[in-house]
Amino acid sequence: MGNAQEVSAAGNDNGIESRIRDLLERMTLEQKIGQLNQVQAWGDNIVESLAPAIRAGRVGSVINIVDPNVINALQHIAVHESEHGIPLLIARDVIHGYHTVAPLPIGQAASWNPEVVRACARLSAQEASAFGVNWTFAPMIDISRDPRWGRIAESLGEDPYLTGVLGAAMVEGFQVSETGGADTLVACAKHFAGYGASEAGRDYNTTNIPENELRNVYLPPFFAAVEAGVGTFMTSFSDIDGIPATASDFLLDQVLRKEWSFDGAVVSDWDSIHQLVVHGFSENDVEATYEAATAGVEIDMIGGVYERHLPELVHQGRVSMQRVDELVGNVLRVKFRAGLMDRDVTELPSVPPRMTALNMAREAAEQSLVLLRNEHGTLPLNAETLSSIAVIGPLADEPAEQLGTWVFDGDAERSVTPLAALNSMLEGTVEIRHVRGLETTRSKDKGGFDEALCAAEQSDAVVLFIGEEAILSGEAHCRADITLPGVQEDLIRHLRSAGKPVIGVVLAGRPLALGGIIDGFDALIYAWHPGTMGGPAIADTLFGRVVPSGKLPVSFPTMSGQVPIYYGYKQTGRPATPDTVIHIDEIPAAATQTSLGMTTFHLDAGYEPLFPFGFGLSYTDFAYTDLALDRHHIRMGESVVAEITLTNSGAVAGAEVVQLYIRDRFASLTRPIRELKRFERVTLEPGESRRVRFELHTDDLAFFRRNKTYGAEPGAFDLWIGGDSTTDLGTEFHIDA
Ligand code: GLC
Repeated sequence: MGNAQEVSAAGNDNGIESRIRDLLERMTLEQKIGQLNQVQAWGDNIVESLAPAIRAGRVGSVINIVDPNVINALQHIAVHESEHGIPLLIARDVIHGYHTVAPLPIGQAASWNPEVVRACARLSAQEASAFGVNWTFAPMIDISRDPRWGRIAESLGEDPYLTGVLGAAMVEGFQVSETGGADTLVACAKHFAGYGASEAGRDYNTTNIPENELRNVYLPPFFAAVEAGVGTFMTSFSDIDGIPATASDFLLDQVLRKEWSFDGAVVSDWDSIHQLVVHGFSENDVEATYEAATAGVEIDMIGGVYERHLPELVHQGRVSMQRVDELVGNVLRVKFRAGLMDRDVTELPSVPPRMTALNMAREAAEQSLVLLRNEHGTLPLNAETLSSIAVIGPLADEPAEQLGTWVFDGDAERSVTPLAALNSMLEGTVEIRHVRGLETTRSKDKGGFDEALCAAEQSDAVVLFIGEEAILSGEAHCRADITLPGVQEDLIRHLRSAGKPVIGVVLAGRPLALGGIIDGFDALIYAWHPGTMGGPAIADTLFGRVVPSGKLPVSFPTMSGQVPIYYGYKQTGRPATPDTVIHIDEIPAAATQTSLGMTTFHLDAGYEPLFPFGFGLSYTDFAYTDLALDRHHIRMGESVVAEITLTNSGAVAGAEVVQLYIRDRFASLTRPIRELKRFERVTLEPGESRRVRFELHTDDLAFFRRNKTYGAEPGAFDLWIGGDSTTDLGTEFHIDA
């Protein structure tokens, strides 16, 4: 089994470097620049429109062409009708599935299961490569701590360690194949870097990230992707500290090439080389081309500026032919490592069995669901004692909406909706009264409320499918108020008057601010956008055939004004504690401008999230006991072993994600109050116990320090283990100088 991008274990490159040099010696400047040129085309005459340029070697990759017959025709021209026969990179955003759609990446992250994430990427690669695609623009590993930002949906959450582990698994899923590579996709780590810090959660907005924050929070997942062998990177649209990422020699040369020794290819985001002009950073496209080529962008995504302006820059001597050869060599290396140069790229692998894909999508959806609330054991529902349920809400039966954002090729006809799954599961046993109640989640028309209430009154329980449609998250789809859109909160309150249990199932692409309505739910399952098989996963979880195991990869704010909110915050000089918080409603009428609290909190929201990072309930209970370290003092270069006993103290089998957090108490820079450093998913039968073991090396405690070097520092550390980021089951250890 090999990673199609990895150089062979012996470190030799199977002669790739000599083959690259040989090609470069024979290519004209126009043909070299062609490898840096990515084009798109649409309509009925794609082949005719692109044939001349491909035949002349002026195109190295295409994007958003998905007809396998057209792709094969274009590849045939590239391989058999051009001088050097270099195949095309066929690019597509295969983000969380192709025709069969897995949960959103933020949902997959809630599984905390690298094997599930890897398997979803593997199936996506098998489906997409069967239709000619060979390059995907995933994983998106932007640390996302502001749920106003629509692209949190395609992220793996707020934490650098979790995002790094799962992002690496996604890279391997796309690129590693048991069958030698034809069913792989070249992966792309994006968006490099710091895109998730877009100011105010508005997409494409400016970012300002101090180097220590950039290196300790935003860059680690990208380094993990490099270590996983990712073939390509994509630059971010955003500027960072005044320099657009697409022109940042600090990011693209200093960090990516010099420090990380990345030798794949970097693609600009959509037209973002030209956008250097729009940023007001470059005077014109010629200067933008110079900046990007000098900083280290290999491929110009659909902008055409490299094709138009690189020749003159080379003739002027502003960009050397050596620099062009470096850029082109990186692109050719990607094609060689992907096996494109050594196989018939028109021989497409077979489509994986649909049931295999559906079963994987279902397993991923099951593990992505997070049980956030379950008052009085409302869930699981019991089909033997229930006679009827009211299934209400605008998202109970929306096969396309449940797929979520970034599903250009998703086949909504394959979707099994929650309503369909419940009808199938409960046929002949439990009556279902289905009332939509609202046209969309954004509707303001309450005309369907009474019919919904009537159904609730006639039923034993209410299952309410609410949230956001897919269009309300994803690229460019940001919200300033991240409560439930429209009048959904009013619908919940209206239904409560029926006096029946109300079970909420939220489908959304972001954490929503549910603080104002959380008490309206007796139970609450967060389903994200769960993909093709979201329906069966939700139905099985509602009725206990599946025991929920998901854990939050992002913190949930109580209200929109709390964001950005995340668990790994800094202590500050005036940390808030429960006893220092004063709530606005508790301020006495006679209060004067006295000292209120004097710690870091909001008068109307406190300082804690509604639900913390790592949180998720189960239908069983887990007990953590006997936390022990093998020693409490280690030296630099040594490891400490932490062990805990996990017991399933409940009545049903279940899976728990055991999480290990540390805190570096005193350091040359202020450090987060908690940092996730290990986690493990453990499945236990009722009454079963298991000793869970984690090893931490001092390298795991390294960070970018005040002296601008990486390393751990001597001193005291807290260590906690538990079922979420608020666990107080802790101990301590020291790195001795
Ligand atoms: C988009 C996105 C990027 C995507 C690219 C190609 O604008 O920013 O994530 O891969 O263009 O579709």
